[in-house]
Amino acid sequence: MSDGGERRYGPLGTALVIIPTYNEAENIGPIVSRVRAAVPEAHILVADDNSPDGTGKIADDIAAEDDQVQVLHRKGKEGLGAAYLAGFRWGIEHGYGVLVEMDADGSHQPEELPRLLTALAGADLVLGSRWVPGGRVVNWPWHRRFLSRGGSTYSRLMLDVPIRDITGGFRAFRKETLEGLGLDAVASQGYCFQVDLARRSVEAGFHVVEVPITFVEREFGDSKMSRDIVVEALWRVTGWGLGTRASQLVDKAKGAAARRP
Ligand code: GDD
Ligand code: MN
Repeated sequence: MSDGGERRYGPLGTALVIIPTYNEAENIGPIVSRVRAAVPEAHILVADDNSPDGTGKIADDIAAEDDQVQVLHRKGKEGLGAAYLAGFRWGIEHGYGVLVEMDADGSHQPEELPRLLTALAGADLVLGSRWVPGGRVVNWPWHRRFLSRGGSTYSRLMLDVPIRDITGGFRAFRKETLEGLGLDAVASQGYCFQVDLARRSVEAGFHVVEVPITFVEREFGDSKMSRDIVVEALWRVTGWGLGTRASQLVDKAKGAAARRP
């Protein structure tokens, strides 16, 4: 694998596309090929949680033929958030300037990644968004649409952040943005990890933009979404939201006290 010295892709440095996997044996090959074709300069890190279906071995075979592909083997299924945190740490340690989140199952179109990377030239974080004009979802059952839109609306109201698709998982971060988020303090394991990083980015004053994407439900394998993941998201977002509101009230009270003669 290249040592990182000669890699450059635009002014922000080489992009590392982090693909978290748990039982994605049918999907990992096609998605890696599509990313390599869509953004040939980008490198790929597969963060596999010891998938019982052999995804990690398949990824190793791909990496053996392509030094722009690496595999991070993890002990067991620890959640989407933990996989991305490990991937971010690995990418920053290895000198990547841009870190991308992408699902393995083809829901995120690699062919749309150039648009996210272009938008990153003028932002600190670019979110691929299903719920802005031009955004679409294809073949997603109504209960998942409801969950995603409902989760985003609830999060937006509770956290007071102007993001339409705050739970989405197709993102491009500048390295400096991730370094400014206090990743060591991130405890969210499941998909609320996406909400957590988005809210931290807004609260840290980073410039966050949304670009429309087309999200296509997977054809192979199963979603890892579960009741536990939804429950974790609900209590964490509610906790963050109450904290946000409490600090807004304190600021208001301080402001009023300061204005009193
Ligand atoms: N390493 C690892 N460990 N990978 C995981 C884990 C885990 O515990 N759980 C899920 N993944 C991987 C899957 O293998 C896939 O590549 C990606 O994370 C997304 O998992 P899905 O199970 O396909 O997610 P989804 O389609 O139901 O949910 C999508 O929408 C959510 C809500 O908008 C994803 O894009 C989520 O990231 C998003 O938050
Ligand atoms: Mn999926």
